Amino acid sequence: MSILVAGGAGYIGSHMVKQLVESGEEVVVADNLSTGHKKAINPKAKFYYGDIRDRAFLDRIFVNEDITAVVHFAAFSIVPESMQEPLKYFDNNTGGMITLLEAMRDFKVKYIVFSSTAATYGIPETMPIKETDPQQPINPYGLSKLMMEKMMAWADEAYGIKFVALRYFNVAGAAADGTIGEDHGPETHLVPIIMQVAQGKRAELSIFGDDYNTPDGTNVRDYVHVMDLADAHILALKYLEAGNPSNAFNLGSSTGFSNKEMLEAAREVTGKEIPAKIAPRRPGDPDSLVAASDKAREVLNWQPKYDDVHDIIATAWQWHSTHPKGYDDRN
Ligand code: UFG
Repeated sequence: MSILVAGGAGYIGSHMVKQLVESGEEVVVADNLSTGHKKAINPKAKFYYGDIRDRAFLDRIFVNEDITAVVHFAAFSIVPESMQEPLKYFDNNTGGMITLLEAMRDFKVKYIVFSSTAATYGIPETMPIKETDPQQPINPYGLSKLMMEKMMAWADEAYGIKFVALRYFNVAGAAADGTIGEDHGPETHLVPIIMQVAQGKRAELSIFGDDYNTPDGTNVRDYVHVMDLADAHILALKYLEAGNPSNAFNLGSSTGFSNKEMLEAAREVTGKEIPAKIAPRRPGDPDSLVAASDKAREVLNWQPKYDDVHDIIATAWQWHSTHPKGYDDRN
């Protein structure tokens, strides 16, 4: 019996695979390596190279392996890119979910844990955001993921495929043993970009906007450690295997940090100056995104271990400072 991790070579997927393997599970990874890294895949997992939109590829996996559950990370996740190339997001994210659910239906795989996002909420009316709040995305990325959530709900209704949608807030950090970390090309996320400035790989940080409706004018986000996120997925799998109904959970720390506060925290952790300037707003950024994550704590018994953003940044810094070229697998 194996768990299929779609997108297991990516940043969050690779941390999930590590956690699953270390908890004794058999893991099969499906990844087209469009943004992931072969070197990030835990050597104890079995790797299939291919695209989840390719039904023949999925059939090969489901015929060869005894898959009991799917954890789905195989999606694009860059908000600004989705504003410029919306169809790329609907094709890969939303389209990929259709093929995956069809294959799960045909091979009678009953459980899926899905990487959803805070971006499905759009501009929240109240803070912190609850799972029951309206989902009105303001960017194609968020909409592509909301459509995937709704597809899963109908697939549950029609075929009995049970799902947990985990709505991530801002994921950061790296495995504490320093073996895997965050390496996107090009990098767009705040924490790794700050790390690159601290390393001297970039001249300065551009803070996108300081006239938002927040205490210091810069966007406020809720940072959650990638290993805490992996733990939540494992709990979500157990929740489904125990026969519970489909559900959605926010995953965040319930504490917001502004971009300026993140910069200050990184200066403290790294001891580096980290030059920064204020730049124009980036399209698609809501003022603040902070999660109410008590539902995951109560229902899944999720207990995040990293509750201080300095500790999250410290693990990111460890990975970046020991892997100055990331996975070093780009031409
Ligand atoms: N930012 C900068 N300068 C940079 C990069 C980012 O100021 O060079 C700012 C952004 O404008 C934003 C904040 O840092 O205010 C965080 O930006 P990220 O790109 O790191 O993350 P996002 O908040 O855009 O998106 C992330 C995930 C999404 C998820 C979202 C939910 O990438 O998948 O968090 O909160 F939906």
